[in-house]
Formats: sequence, C-alpha cells, structure tokens
Amino acid sequence: MFSEQRSAEVVAASFAGTPDDRLRTVLTSLVEHLHSFVKDVELTEAEWATAIDFLTRTGQKSDANRQEFILLSDVLGVSMLVETINHRAGGGSTESTVLGPFHMVESPPRELGDPIALDEKGTPCLVSGQVTGADGEPLAGAVVDVWQANEDGFYDVQQPGIQPPGNLRGLFRTDADGRYWFRSVVPRYYPIPDDGPVGQLLRATGRHPYRPAHLHFIVTAPGHRSVTTHVFVADSPYLDSDAVFGVKESLIREVPEVDDPQRAAAAGLDNPFRALTFDIRLRR
Ligand SMILES: [Fe+2]
Repeated sequence: MFSEQRSAEVVAASFAGTPDDRLRTVLTSLVEHLHSFVKDVELTEAEWATAIDFLTRTGQKSDANRQEFILLSDVLGVSMLVETINHRAGGGSTESTVLGPFHMVESPPRELGDPIALDEKGTPCLVSGQVTGADGEPLAGAVVDVWQANEDGFYDVQQPGIQPPGNLRGLFRTDADGRYWFRSVVPRYYPIPDDGPVGQLLRATGRHPYRPAHLHFIVTAPGHRSVTTHVFVADSPYLDSDAVFGVKESLIREVPEVDDPQRAAAAGLDNPFRALTFDIRLRR
C-alpha cells in the first residue's frame, strides 16, 4: 500500500514487470530520486501546480524553431552532464561540449574557402584548422559542420525574414591534408532566448542569460568517434559564467589580427584580417 514512507518503493514496484531492462532501471531510479526530492523540500500543492504549469508552458513554447526543453536542460547543467558522461575525453581527442538548441536545420554544403556570413555583417574572420586522427594523421574528407550567431547575437532560425536561411552555417569537407577553411565573422557573445519560461527561471534566480562568444562544430570522419563541440573566443565576456556551463579551457582560442597580404588575398579578405585557428583531433 502507498504511504509517505513507502511511496518510492510501491511506485518502483509497479514498474518491476517492464520487459526492457534499461527502461526498468531508469524508471526505478527516477522514481526513487523524484520521491526523495519531493520529500526533501516538502513540496506544497501550490508549488506542484506551479511546476506543472512551468513544464506545460515549456512544451507550448517549443516548436520546429524553438526548443525550450533543451534550453531548460542546458541552464540546469543536465545537457552538459549528459554530454560529459558520454564523451569522456581521452586519447588526446578534442573535448566536446553541448550541442545547444540551434542545430535545427541542416547546414548547407559549401566549398572550402566559401563565406558563411551571407548577410555580410560583422568583423570578417578566416576560420581554419586541421582535422587529425589519434596519432596526428590528417583525416581527408572529414565532414566539418559549423554554425554560429550573427553580429547581433542571433542564429538564422531565430530571425526568419531578417537573416537569409543558412546564414552562418556550413558543411565542409576537409582536403587531402585534413584541412578546412572558410570565411566568417568573429563570433559574438549572446543571450539564450529568455522570453519564455526558462528566461523567467533565470530572472527569478538572479542569473544572466549570456553565453560567451563561440562557434559550433560537429566533426565526423569514417572509423572515428565524431565530436560535437565549440571553439570559444579568448577575450569574450561570460567565459567564466556561461549560462549553460559549456566552457572548457581546452576549447578557448585567441582570434588575432593577422597582417599577411598574400594570405588575405588568397582568402578573399581585406588585409589585415582576424583569424581563428581550431584544430580537431578525433579518436577511433
Ligand atoms: Fe551557440
């Protein structure tokens, strides 16, 4: 019988016949922790109703272009924890970080050297690097998927009709030496969308919604573990207080000004130009 003392045990037992072992394990643990949490804070009925309303609105705020549940997971540090558990760094591979809520559309395939800043706003920047395997061997034909926010701090999917579709996104293939390069703009810090329930949560707790400047990457190569990560801009505000806890020391890079007329001409940029170099190492 259900009682305050035995609540978790009784509810967990109702899942005992779950045929899928993993589902049974997850549900049993979920029930134990959830009941323990409710007892710990002695949740009131009004608080319970507020929580239901909050989660309902979180779902209602989500659509094809807005993922409020990922945001909620992000600001609670759960996205980063799941990420960290599932991609423990090792073998010198590039560290991973959160996917974030804005990889909602396929990145358009582009040629090496192409510009991705279709709106031509922002400070031009050459982004380049080499993708290598565990022993430093170049990985030719690796797929480098990148996306970033524009100068105003928004992704294309947040500004339909203002930014061209596919703005600041690109899908590249590395050359024979494992190298990739493209023209973009220096990323800028931005607030995560805070006009929904997650923003309300941040305001109620005195937290800011900002993420330090970064560029997103998913890098894949046959026979290797893919990596989902960012490169962060070294002098960006909020590096020490990322709203979604995504910063890792090994992913921070300077974006220096380069004075090299030949390289500028080859890249199709005015000299001098800003350059962001980010090498990526994958393990088997
Ligand atoms: Fe982002």
